[in-house]
Amino acid sequence: MRIRGMALQFTIIGVLLAAVTAATELPIAKPGCQEDRCGNVRIPYPFGTGEDCYYDPQFLITCNHTFNPPKAFLGEGNLNVTEITLDGKLRLMQYIAKDCYNPAGARTSRNRPWINLPVQGPYVFSDTDNMLVAIGCDTYAVMQGIREDKSDTYMVGCVSKCSNKKYVPNTCSGIGCCQTSLAKGIKYFDVSLSSYDNHTGIWEFNRCSFAFMIEEKQFSFFPSNLSDLEQVNKVPIIVDWSIGRNNCETLEKNKMSNACQGQSKCYDPENGSGYICKCLDGYQGNPYLPNGCRNINECSDPKVAHNCSHNCIDTEGNYTCSCPKGYHGDGRIDGERCIRNRSSVIQVAVGIGAGLTSLLMGITWLYWGYSKWKLMKLKEKFFRQNGGLLLEQQLSRREGPVTETAKIFSAAELEKATDKYHESRILGRGGFGTVYKGTLTDGRTVAIKKSKTIDHSQIEQFINEVVVLYQINHRNVVKLLGCCLETEVPLLVYEYVANGTLYDHIHDKSKVSAFTWEMRLKIASETAGVLSYLHSAASVPIIHRDVKSTNILLDNSYTVKVSDFGTSRLIPLDQDELSTMVQGTLGYLDPEYFHTSQLTDKSDVYSFGVVLVELLTGMKAISFDRPEGERNLSAYFLCALKEDRLVHILQDCMVNQDNIRQLKEVANIAKKCLRVKGEERPNMKKVAMELEGLRTSAKHPWTNDELYVEETEYLLGESVETVRSEEMAGTSAGYHSLYLMQSQGDGR
Ligand SMILES: *[C@@H]1O[C@H](CO)[C@@H](O)[C@H](O)[C@H]1NC(C)=O
Ligand SMILES: *[C@@H]1O[C@H](CO)[C@@H](O)[C@H](O)[C@H]1NC(C)=O
Ligand SMILES: *[C@@H]1O[C@H](CO)[C@@H](O)[C@H](O)[C@H]1NC(C)=O
Ligand SMILES: *[C@@H]1O[C@H](CO)[C@@H](O)[C@H](O)[C@H]1NC(C)=O
Ligand SMILES: *[C@@H]1O[C@H](CO)[C@@H](O)[C@H](O)[C@H]1NC(C)=O
Ligand SMILES: *[C@@H]1O[C@H](CO)[C@@H](O)[C@H](O)[C@H]1NC(C)=O
Ligand SMILES: *[C@@H]1O[C@H](CO)[C@@H](O)[C@H](O)[C@H]1NC(C)=O
Repeated sequence: MRIRGMALQFTIIGVLLAAVTAATELPIAKPGCQEDRCGNVRIPYPFGTGEDCYYDPQFLITCNHTFNPPKAFLGEGNLNVTEITLDGKLRLMQYIAKDCYNPAGARTSRNRPWINLPVQGPYVFSDTDNMLVAIGCDTYAVMQGIREDKSDTYMVGCVSKCSNKKYVPNTCSGIGCCQTSLAKGIKYFDVSLSSYDNHTGIWEFNRCSFAFMIEEKQFSFFPSNLSDLEQVNKVPIIVDWSIGRNNCETLEKNKMSNACQGQSKCYDPENGSGYICKCLDGYQGNPYLPNGCRNINECSDPKVAHNCSHNCIDTEGNYTCSCPKGYHGDGRIDGERCIRNRSSVIQVAVGIGAGLTSLLMGITWLYWGYSKWKLMKLKEKFFRQNGGLLLEQQLSRREGPVTETAKIFSAAELEKATDKYHESRILGRGGFGTVYKGTLTDGRTVAIKKSKTIDHSQIEQFINEVVVLYQINHRNVVKLLGCCLETEVPLLVYEYVANGTLYDHIHDKSKVSAFTWEMRLKIASETAGVLSYLHSAASVPIIHRDVKSTNILLDNSYTVKVSDFGTSRLIPLDQDELSTMVQGTLGYLDPEYFHTSQLTDKSDVYSFGVVLVELLTGMKAISFDRPEGERNLSAYFLCALKEDRLVHILQDCMVNQDNIRQLKEVANIAKKCLRVKGEERPNMKKVAMELEGLRTSAKHPWTNDELYVEETEYLLGESVETVRSEEMAGTSAGYHSLYLMQSQGDGR
């Protein structure tokens, strides 16, 4: 425990140390050299205060601790250094030259300061950063300089004369102040002053003459300086330093190493001797130390972060911009910026569109508010009359995700969609009313069912259908998109199923030849599947009550969409049968139900049996062309079976040697479905399974004929794929219904 505790402590200390190190500035002194600072002066390597700490004795800094704060001197000399920078500059403080006079014209003080940089050292007064300035109204200043080569001396001067302070401007421009630039490579200079008139006549405002070399950036001139400079002793001067006497090019030519460490580069000072090192772009620190140049986190600089339109990401020696998910581009504000991916653009466009639309709608609504209000009253009346309240009541009793899928359409929307219910839009008519084809404003094609009358019993059926369809979420059930209750007669809006009814395909002579047995079997199987789902798998068992070929719609891929739930019944879970008014279509109607009025799921089985017979024979469910006892297709079919005439009544165009066995089996299933006693009929689940079994086996044309082995293999490969995708589709439908059941179950 103790050891662990200590380890923990060390870890904490380590973390703290790391944090402290990270927080402080980058190291500037040679590793191991404690003294990287003298008073206020930071001492970066190659400078150092001792033998182990400098690069070269010429970079010795002597720190005299007898001063408070301690003072830094260059070498062992007396040049006080106030700043050392890594871009090759030093700042010193130097005395200014001053000659002062009394009113009588006698000179009272004079000094002539000089300064000598170490001759051997890599130091020169910066000609770019400094200048010579003379200030006074009776002033004549001369600077004498000695350049690197000791014999190369030179002089430069500056004269300023003026008689009245009021003509002295705020800039150093010749009146009261003059300035001149310096030669390169000066190592020594002194400044001397003299006057023409011993300051007589101007003594009142300018008692002394001043001259000095000064760092250009720190110099400013005002007329007040003519007198207040008497109090100033020293001004800053910049000294250039570099390493060695050779420039980078020479070193490279002679394959000599330089002092520049990792992530840095050799630079030549402007036309001076020696070289300096600089960190590469994107790095900062001390280029003379190993690992001295460190990566800059550019992104922490708001100026750089601004160059990125979204995210800034620091990289080694650089930074990049990145875009958030769903965007692409380089993310730079001066580049491509971040471009929303196409889908998002559409989303935004749709969003803006929706926004504008609702704004427009809002305005329109306000404008037409009054007339709308009147209309609304009427619509409300219709809504009530059309069972809107009943529907609301029905729906409020049920919970689940179903309500999300349906929409209440406005009367105007549907009127527009159907060209005001134009004749040409009629898809079909029936006892229930008329079905129109409509195109919604969003481009969707829909089927709109318009009730025929305002008969009250019809309205109940209508509400019933809405409620039933809200329960169902199955890919083989036509989807109810919504309804409209504001009109005199209620309207239902369905998905549009493009390929007509099963009835058309069986009985339309032009379509019959293309309607193969495989398609018929698929349709039979899907219809059985959906009925089985309605009977057992749906959240509340549903009996369709009106299964017939005109209620089985087909889409372009011949996928079944069962429709017309107007007479369907929800069977409460605790009841197997329901006593109802007998409803259905002649020819499909279960005789048992007809006699007893007891509705069970077997009634649907019977009707489905009739549809199967229709598929097999291509005959209508009821036909007055047949003898009286056989007008009903079921009776006719059962009779034919009994007499073993099945082959004669099958629709000939689809029968062939390969499928005759299947046809017979389906006929057998149909026979079972048509049994008089409901109890003896198989349930839909069993029927669906048998049909699906037949279909699947049909897809595997196992054959022993060796001649066709290759072809068979090919077919096999294909069919396995098909089966898989079917299975997948089935699974997803299964999840759907499961979901519905669960949420329904929870709702209870
Ligand atoms: C520090 O400065 C004082 C006063 O100028 C001088 O006496 C002393 O010798 C200096 N010390 C060093 C180490 O240079
Ligand atoms: C440098 O500092 C020393 C000690 O304070 C002082 O005597 C000397 O005048 C200073 N020199 C300059 C040029 O500032
Ligand atoms: C200026 O002063 C010098 C010496 O102090 C003197 O010789 C000279 O005559 C004076 N000149 C004028 C114009 O007063
Ligand atoms: C001149 O005077 C101004 C204002 O007092 C001052 O800021 C400036 O430092 C002076 N110039 C010099 C060289 O001292
Ligand atoms: C450096 O010297 C060369 C010739 O020696 C000259 O052409 C160039 O202008 C100088 N550069 C600067 C910045 O003085
Ligand atoms: C940083 O990256 C940009 C492109 O992302 C490039 O143009 C630039 O030269 C890089 N800068 C450095 C110092 O590598
Ligand atoms: C931002 O981008 C501009 C244009 O490319 C460039 O000139 C500037 O240096 C960048 N700013 C920073 C801080 O990188």
